Amino acid sequence: MVQHGAIVGTQWGDEGKGKIVDALSPDFDIVVRFQGGTNAGHTVVVRREGEEKPDIFALHLIPSGILQPDKACLIADGVVVDPLKLEEELSGLRGRVKATARLLLSTKAHLIMPWHIVRDSITGGMVGTTKRGIGPCYADEKDRRGIRVMDALSPQHFGDRVREECEWNRHLIRAAIDHFGLSAGVWNEFCVDEALDAEKVVSDYLGVFDRLQERGLEIVDGARFLSHSERDAKSILFEGAQAALLDNTHGDYPYVTSSNTTVGGIPTGTGFWPRELFAVGVCKAYSTRVGEGPFVAEYGGEEEELATVIRDRGNEYGTTTGRPRRCGWLDLLPVRYAAMVNRLGALALTKLDILSTVDPLRVCVAYRVDGKTIEDYPANSEMLERCEAVYQELPGWQDDISSIRKFSDLPQEARQYVQFVEEGAGVPVKYVGVGKEREELIQIP
Ligand code: GDP
Ligand code: IMO
Ligand code: MG
Repeated sequence: MVQHGAIVGTQWGDEGKGKIVDALSPDFDIVVRFQGGTNAGHTVVVRREGEEKPDIFALHLIPSGILQPDKACLIADGVVVDPLKLEEELSGLRGRVKATARLLLSTKAHLIMPWHIVRDSITGGMVGTTKRGIGPCYADEKDRRGIRVMDALSPQHFGDRVREECEWNRHLIRAAIDHFGLSAGVWNEFCVDEALDAEKVVSDYLGVFDRLQERGLEIVDGARFLSHSERDAKSILFEGAQAALLDNTHGDYPYVTSSNTTVGGIPTGTGFWPRELFAVGVCKAYSTRVGEGPFVAEYGGEEEELATVIRDRGNEYGTTTGRPRRCGWLDLLPVRYAAMVNRLGALALTKLDILSTVDPLRVCVAYRVDGKTIEDYPANSEMLERCEAVYQELPGWQDDISSIRKFSDLPQEARQYVQFVEEGAGVPVKYVGVGKEREELIQIP
């Protein structure tokens, strides 16, 4: 039986999943994105021999496995695909990755259309979305009026569908602008006429699909591709985007994304059931969150200076939107919850280096709410707003740890921190990130 792997976020995203996928993908044949879209931003930092500056890759749609030679990288059916952005991303990789990698796109994936981006700009403010059209695209999928990759392969039919949707979205967008009392100027500000110019949309999308295919993009039935690959004993690594607390069903609803970011998203997003799956949860050594929503262990008023230090040192600005990320202490409740909903086999604890010199350190181990102490994450946004963190203090360390490659060489306080996380989460820590670069990773046997 072939064992497959999954990398998923255990907090609110940006834990360093891209770096861990890059580190583990040499052990797999295929790397698959199964949900989300260009809301994701996965960074991999590669320093090549003889080059002074490292090459920084920010992947949004293309699986991070593309940076390793000879991998087949599949964008599966559960992903919402903006083909214009896909072309941009592929162009950005030209000359920087080996041409031996294959890029495949599944026919049943839904397309992000220009009107999805307009609608996200109008309605996404409450959640603080990335405004990439993710929510409206998934909404249209569920409402059975989405347009899929396969539709773009039949130009006549594609044109008909685009014209229908432009008509419908003209009413929808007008009603939304009225409903929210927005000024008439937003119509121009959001370039609505251009987004609903059916002939332009058809020509842009068909053109981009032609160019993508000329450049080697393979359009396939993803479920069949994975099933046949497994029959040929190929192993698959599933690359999660976002994280457990942003899962549409299991996260901090409504402050979530619109897909299932936990391992349950794999079978629905790919049409492939990985019978043997080893899931690694990526956990940042502290917490960050972009956008709105509850954040119990967020640094408070008197910790403002620390928040600034961590944000600057950890470069906590969104890979996709550049927004400053909210920062806080490590909270074990979400991580334990993520371990449960994903059946995690291991943790990768990233960015431990960023905590050097922070002394003492605090870790949130429970919440106080309504006169009670709770240790299980409630995943109830209304209640979370009333929760207060209960912290355990741990000693910090002073040394720079970025050149360390063996767990036993870490300062004793850093090892104690890792062990505390491991015990608190109930999952063994197998990887420790000590820097942003590919090599700056400790593997614990
Ligand atoms: P992802 O969305 O989960 O892939 O994470 P992002 O790429 O959005 O954000 C993680 C950031 O932390 C990126 O800038 C990475 O280069 C960086 N990073 C990942 N692991 C480490 C680590 O162990 N130490 C440091 N200093 N940076 C890291
Ligand atoms: P990666 O894969 C961090 C957040 C947004 C917003 C909410 C909904 O890089 O970890 P959406 O645009 O998805 O409708 O926004 O989810 N969000 C992320 N936060 N990392 C991400 O991806 C995110 N993708 C979405 O900030 O709060
Ligand atoms: Mg990210």
